[in-house]
Amino acid sequence: MSDEQRNREAALTDRVVASFASTPDPRLREVMQSLTRHLHAFLREVRPTGSEWQEAIAFLTDAGHITDERRQEFILLSDVFGASMQTVTMNNEADGAATESTVLGPFFIDGSPPIPLGGDISFGATGQPCWVEGTVTGTSGKPVPDARIEVWEADDDGFYDVQYGDDRTAARGHVFSEPDGSFRFWALVPTPYPIPHDGPVGRLLAATGRSPLRASHLHFMVIAPGFRTLVTHIFVRGDELLERDSVFGVRESLVKDFVAQAAEIPTPDGRDLGGREWSRVRFDIVLAEGGA
Ligand code: BEZ
Ligand code: FE
Repeated sequence: MSDEQRNREAALTDRVVASFASTPDPRLREVMQSLTRHLHAFLREVRPTGSEWQEAIAFLTDAGHITDERRQEFILLSDVFGASMQTVTMNNEADGAATESTVLGPFFIDGSPPIPLGGDISFGATGQPCWVEGTVTGTSGKPVPDARIEVWEADDDGFYDVQYGDDRTAARGHVFSEPDGSFRFWALVPTPYPIPHDGPVGRLLAATGRSPLRASHLHFMVIAPGFRTLVTHIFVRGDELLERDSVFGVRESLVKDFVAQAAEIPTPDGRDLGGREWSRVRFDIVLAEGGA
């Protein structure tokens, strides 16, 4: 490239950066100027042709068209770029033994049903019963009583209740930890499922040889006054998708042993599962101090 060409391109970048110089809000100014520098650096490295740039605009247009109050393609785009996970990582700074965070995902809903300790969140969702137990403590090791523990997951067909388009509530609920911080409930052994991939993000994954599948997981959100709200999942040790989760949500510390139990083994609470096999998993949750 000639010096003349390089100078023209650099001068254009500088002009656009300077156009944001009098943005009154200093944070917005920083964001816009940095975005301009990075966007121009990307363009000047990749050097898209006019038709490639049109294709990129058409992709974003399609993402806009498929987005509505139930489907958010731009969040999916952020997810598959690892941008959601990077934002989670930056905003939940490592704090000693505190349990690590991961992405919220699109399927949390406020107002899940309350479940008594030892109760069942499945409400008819299909899958192998799984006994989940653990404790909630702070990083000091002190038990956290009355922590609100929200849990939600897909059924073994790979769908969350909200994806069925009827009004069912299933495979979600919340329990509260006991005075000694302990909790327990029945859920389902998580199974893999794809992120929605019938739109532009799915086409992008297909074109780049990537799978839309998420590693099997059970979602948690743990809320307790005086502690940072924890949004996380637990994953299934041995799941072959752990290394290639489509949204980069897996952290080694969140991979747990879901231990299979033969049908003859008595359940911890004496529940009769009608001769079915079941599993159990332990998740000890450590909350970072701070927050509301
Ligand atoms: C989920 O875990 O439910 C999820 C996360 C990111 C994108 C799609 C689904
Ligand atoms: Fe999920």
